[in-house]
Amino acid sequence: MHRHPTSKLIVFEGIEGSGKTTQIEFVHKFFENHGHTVNRLREPGGTQFGEKLRSAILESETMIHPLAEAHLFASARAQILFEKVFPILSKEKQIVILDRYFYSSIAYQGFARKLGAQKIIDLHNEEPLNLRPDICFYLKIDLETSHARQSARGSEKDYFEKSNNEFYSALINGYDYCAENFKEIRTIDAAKDIEYVKEQINSELTKLI
Ligand SMILES: Nc1ncnc2c1ncn2[C@@H]1O[C@H](COP(=O)(O)OP(=O)(O)OP(=O)(O)O)[C@@H](O)[C@H]1O
Ligand SMILES: [Mg+2]
Repeated sequence: MHRHPTSKLIVFEGIEGSGKTTQIEFVHKFFENHGHTVNRLREPGGTQFGEKLRSAILESETMIHPLAEAHLFASARAQILFEKVFPILSKEKQIVILDRYFYSSIAYQGFARKLGAQKIIDLHNEEPLNLRPDICFYLKIDLETSHARQSARGSEKDYFEKSNNEFYSALINGYDYCAENFKEIRTIDAAKDIEYVKEQINSELTKLI
């Protein structure tokens, strides 16, 4: 794959309510102010094919087998990389911001659904799925903070949000595993206020460009 040296892939990870959407807004403006074109994509949607898979997973009323889940996400991801991310990153001064990436698969299917991290890593060992971001921000919050922010928001819960505390603790363990094993991850204490999180992210981004 040809990657233009002035273009970057930035990923945001963290459980529900960790502040990904909030911070992505700031990062969008940050890069626009630096003269980049910003492309925001979300997983598992972002393509026509991926949006269909997204609804199939998130609106499911029945339990999906973890292996089916892992392959559905990997499938949507391969398509978004091929159709959107690779072509964008081959051009000059482009920023791709991904709201979740394969680290979420490690946390959700690897840890919470107990497939094991290695199975997810193995699934992502060839093109296009082996593309690593320039930087990944893990917005780390605890279970209680996630619950508090979700109930404050008062939105209807989807397939994953209906899960219990044990599931959420496993997710956090999964993200912690990622933070220890992938050098592109920066862990941010996202239980702190919005301004603090924004400043931490800004200082990392300043080093990147
Ligand atoms: N650092 C923070 N301190 C307090 N509240 C915050 C902070 N960051 C975000 N919030 C608030 O928490 C709620 C959830 O934030 P946000 O939607 O950005 O999270 P998210 O990670 O995108 O969640 P989801 O995974 O569900 O999309 C929002 O109401 C937001 O205003
Ligand atoms: Mg969000």
